[in-house]
Amino acid sequence: MQISFAATAAKIQSGSWVVAASAGGALTPAAQRADKASGFALSRGLKVSRFTGKSGQLLEVLAPAGLPVSRILLVGLGKPADLDEKGLETIGAQIVARLHTLGETAATFEIEAPKGAKVKSGEIAAHLAFGARLRSYGFNKYRTQNLDEHKKRLAEIRVLAPDLAAAKRAYAGLGAVADGIFLARDLVNEPPNVLHPEEFARRVKALSKSGLKVEVLGEAEMKKQGFGALLGVGQGSSRESQLVVMQWNGTKNRKAAPIAFVGKGVCFDSGGLSLKPGAGMMGMKGDMGGAAAVTGAMLALATRKAKVNAVGIIGLVENMPGGDAIRPDDVLTSLSGQTIEVLNTDAEGRLVLADALTYTQRRFKPKFIIDLATLTGAIVQTLGFEHAGVFSNDDKLAGRLADAGRYTGERVWRLPLDPFYDKMIRSKIADVKNIGGANSGAITAAQFLKRFIQDDTVWAHLDIAGVAWQDGEHKVQIPSWGTGWGVRLLNRLVKEHYEA
Ligand code: BES
Ligand code: MN
Ligand code: ZN
Repeated sequence: MQISFAATAAKIQSGSWVVAASAGGALTPAAQRADKASGFALSRGLKVSRFTGKSGQLLEVLAPAGLPVSRILLVGLGKPADLDEKGLETIGAQIVARLHTLGETAATFEIEAPKGAKVKSGEIAAHLAFGARLRSYGFNKYRTQNLDEHKKRLAEIRVLAPDLAAAKRAYAGLGAVADGIFLARDLVNEPPNVLHPEEFARRVKALSKSGLKVEVLGEAEMKKQGFGALLGVGQGSSRESQLVVMQWNGTKNRKAAPIAFVGKGVCFDSGGLSLKPGAGMMGMKGDMGGAAAVTGAMLALATRKAKVNAVGIIGLVENMPGGDAIRPDDVLTSLSGQTIEVLNTDAEGRLVLADALTYTQRRFKPKFIIDLATLTGAIVQTLGFEHAGVFSNDDKLAGRLADAGRYTGERVWRLPLDPFYDKMIRSKIADVKNIGGANSGAITAAQFLKRFIQDDTVWAHLDIAGVAWQDGEHKVQIPSWGTGWGVRLLNRLVKEHYEA
């Protein structure tokens, strides 16, 4: 789907003409023009509908003969003072959802800033366009049948913005973020027979053309360096484990300490010898959602040429049972030197992260590390699907993540780290064991990761098991199983606080 911006339309010649009303149903000037041009079809429509101008509400009127457009779509903006970026994105997505259902091929948005809005008109256009773009996503590459029912005919959206330069400027960054989100969704949606660790690494390597520097460490190199925990997880799989390092240097000072994102990339989590039951194994292709988010965020930063030095490090493995697989009771020596008693091979994500976190700290001495991982079922029990869990040794970073979450809609909720929980992962024979007790599973997992964080490293861990994919209820901006969760959050955090 093509998105373009124009200052004003000389004449809207075809497709849907999308105009707006605020809460109470008051038509904006463009909507009044559309009403008049249609012989007051909108006014009549308003009389015979429940339209009140509530945010995202839609009223659709077929254009009468004589108008070149196919239809007029009136969209509610709600109370102008309540209008924010997140809300505008939802509205943009709602419009596109309806246009898809209608089989429309083109649309022009003529949505002015309503009186009393805090968001500027250029930003309004850009965020509507961003929401529209997010909704245009589809993952249909494996369908060979009934394609028409899935195909999106909407090929073009023109967004009118009186402040054209401001709209284009605002959208330039958002377009890059959408690219990152689409990449992350694709990676999560791909089946695991296709997206195994080496294929994932290849796809990251292909991002070099965006300006990212990409290195891949294979098993031989990791073995040499001592990645005993990460390699332990991968050893039951016929696929080779990989560690991928992405670097984006967007500041003049290439030596300045980077910020770091670390992702869990378990391309399929069968549980290993501690095998998951059938129902619990479904969807475990998405267990690389953390790695997908890191990759998408790094692509977004590079594409919009963010003024920051950032590294993205993802540990890619497949967790499989087999004659070579690690056993419950095995002891692994991690890259940090700490030994880990593996009591459940299904608690594998923390093993992968342990080595990835050690590597990141040793090599880059970053300003901070944020790791993202579909780490525990327990976080889904605790927070459900609306918040990711955040654990941090730094109040400032945790606060900034919470702010970025509120702004983008990718919300996070903080849970505790505490020496009390640390006791729960004491091993009888090694430095640490990889499971806690029956309770507080998301916390003991975070506490495990903390064992691999040096005292002076500022760190936050995001447990995204409830938000990396969605079954059932879909958000209007997210028309696929893989959500791409995290790309927006990380991008916002960087934009607000870490760009030179
Ligand atoms: N990948 C899973 C966590 C998960 C579960 C993500 C459900 C999304 C939905 C992780 O590797 C795992 O299996 N965790 C175990 C840990 C337990 C064995 C201590 C869990 O949560 O049950
Ligand atoms: Mn597991
Ligand atoms: Zn897992």
